[in-house]
Amino acid sequence: MPMLGIKVPLREGEKVRRKLLELGVLATDYKIKKDGKFLIFPVKSPVKGFEVVESEFEPVKKRPSSYREVVEVPNELRTLLPSSFDIIGDIAIIELPVELVSYGGNIGEAILEVHKGIKAVFMKGSKVSGTFRVRELLHLAGEERTETIHRENHIKLKLDVARVYYTPRLATERMRVFEKAKEGEIIFDMFAGVGPYAVLLAKKAGLVFACDINPWAVKYLEENKKLNKVENVIPILGDVRKVAGQIKADRVIMNLPKFAHEFLREAILSTKSGGVIHYYGFSHEENLFEVHEENIKRVAEKLGRSVEVIDERVVRPYAPYQYNVAIDFRVF
Ligand SMILES: C[S@@+](CC[C@H](N)C(=O)[O-])C[C@H]1O[C@@H](n2cnc3c(N)ncnc32)[C@H](O)[C@@H]1O
Repeated sequence: MPMLGIKVPLREGEKVRRKLLELGVLATDYKIKKDGKFLIFPVKSPVKGFEVVESEFEPVKKRPSSYREVVEVPNELRTLLPSSFDIIGDIAIIELPVELVSYGGNIGEAILEVHKGIKAVFMKGSKVSGTFRVRELLHLAGEERTETIHRENHIKLKLDVARVYYTPRLATERMRVFEKAKEGEIIFDMFAGVGPYAVLLAKKAGLVFACDINPWAVKYLEENKKLNKVENVIPILGDVRKVAGQIKADRVIMNLPKFAHEFLREAILSTKSGGVIHYYGFSHEENLFEVHEENIKRVAEKLGRSVEVIDERVVRPYAPYQYNVAIDFRVF
């Protein structure tokens, strides 16, 4: 259908385009047309002082903003399409309901089409489990590669999403801990993974001891030390029970929410009097903090120490009615 257009010599194009935008009359859903030595701008209404013409304009193709706009799945399943997925470096990891699993390939391709920075798509094949806290991943589309470099809190983290635990969903929490840390502290990251806390905190700390039992996590931690040019991180490969107590830290991080309660003795033994422990746990919504607090106090008492809770917060939902919580407490 013909529309109104404004015809101007080519050399005046940019000036006029800005003017029309400023006046709010440029029809931005349509493409500007070239006609010999002239440009024709699609407009919503005539503008005084310009030559007005009637013309046909091609609509601008809008880039879809979600894979859900382009994916091919039966209509009755569309409402089941997840509205979000994790992005780690250039890898996407999506959780699919069972009804959509057989359309995983289409979903993967649609994600690659819409998100140009993503090069590989995987589906969660299991829950996080075992000592290493990793999950099974099933390849959906793109490169069959699980190693990537992720950027968070101005640091780079090289990791293999199939071999180590890592979630981008804790970036804000890690920054919160960084802000609480003081210059020059000795920090003990008991369950360090590839180093998202350790490498970040090294920017402020005097020394960071970073332990993990997963050899892949420690391999990447070593690489991430170099990648971020931090020399004050000491990676320790093995069971944290073997080193706890030998380290006396100003700040201890216990990011193993599923089992942290089993390591409270080790954490408290590794904390100087007046030092702080960042404890993470999972809780039912009906008892978010008390259950952990009781445990913490009981273990401290047994060791002849006392504790003072300084902050408690919900970090993120974890499962229906379950939350990942954080408790910061001082040990005396
Ligand atoms: C939930 S992940 C946290 C990793 C990292 N802090 C992060 O934020 O990404 C817990 C880590 O603890 C490690 N882990 C589990 N049991 C351990 C133990 N007994 N001693 C040392 N590390 C252990 C696992 O291998 C895993 O990398």
